[in-house]
Amino acid sequence: MGRVSGKKVVITGGAQGLGACFGRMLAAEGAKISLTDINIDGARETAEAINADHAGAAIAIEHDVTKRASWEAALSEANDFMGGVSVLVNNAGIGTWGNIETETDDGWRRTQEIDVDSIFIGTQLAMPYLKDNQPGSIINISSVAGLIADGMMLSYNAAKAAVWMMSKSIALHCARSGYDIRCNSVHPVFTRTPIIDPIVELGGGGEKGEKKLTRQIPLQRLGEPEDVGYCILYLASDESRFVTASEFKIDGGITAQ
Ligand SMILES: NC(=O)c1ccc[n+]([C@@H]2O[C@H](COP(=O)([O-])OP(=O)(O)OC[C@H]3O[C@@H](n4cnc5c(N)ncnc54)[C@H](O)[C@@H]3O)[C@@H](O)[C@H]2O)c1
Repeated sequence: MGRVSGKKVVITGGAQGLGACFGRMLAAEGAKISLTDINIDGARETAEAINADHAGAAIAIEHDVTKRASWEAALSEANDFMGGVSVLVNNAGIGTWGNIETETDDGWRRTQEIDVDSIFIGTQLAMPYLKDNQPGSIINISSVAGLIADGMMLSYNAAKAAVWMMSKSIALHCARSGYDIRCNSVHPVFTRTPIIDPIVELGGGGEKGEKKLTRQIPLQRLGEPEDVGYCILYLASDESRFVTASEFKIDGGITAQ
């Protein structure tokens, strides 16, 4: 038996980066996985790689997390494939770079739409499935940027802080309603995925750019996707059955300063 045997997991943004890593790690511990992404080719590639090691464990589903109709279709397809949905990992997101003087209306709105509105819409639509498949777990990927600010991360700071507090509200509602459905947020620091490429470039690219990022991190390195994946594994499993409305910082110590 794996740590998440029998769990039926939807992971948004599952084509690459953190979402793909979560899919691989959860499948290795016995879960069924629906990898959803706007990048369907990438999601298919990741699902195929998972299925090569764990036959029939994963499916790829085309999904735009900003659209209600797309959520309805994706959840229905995931439910059909897995025989239910018991874990929702709201992982899809974008990073944006801009300060109060340079950010555009479009940059602000796109960030809130993809990083925040998507979690409201998707979690609301997933609730009936989660209620039918208890115990359930909702895992929202925020960021250390939801807890500490940077002058150049105006929209991203606001979005990820909203995800942090929205997770607590969802958790309290579920607990007070008597549902065995938990909700927690996860806050990674810079982690080696394509999302940080533009920031590494801004710092001079390559090793030089990475060094600039790691300077601020007490453990002196970038996060690896697996560092975050172990937290997702715990939160998806029943090992965390008494854990709700909490935030998990996977940050090499950065928020302690
Ligand atoms: N990597 C980091 O340093 C880091 C740190 C803190 C938080 N995060 C958060 O982790 C999550 C995953 O990021 P990542 O590092 O894997 O980035 P990534 O860019 O590698 O992956 C993000 C995925 O989301 C998908 N996506 C984007 N818009 C979408 C939409 N509208 N509908 C469906 N899918 C969409 C992309 O196609 C992509 O596959 C994000 O929420 C990000 O904010 C990342």
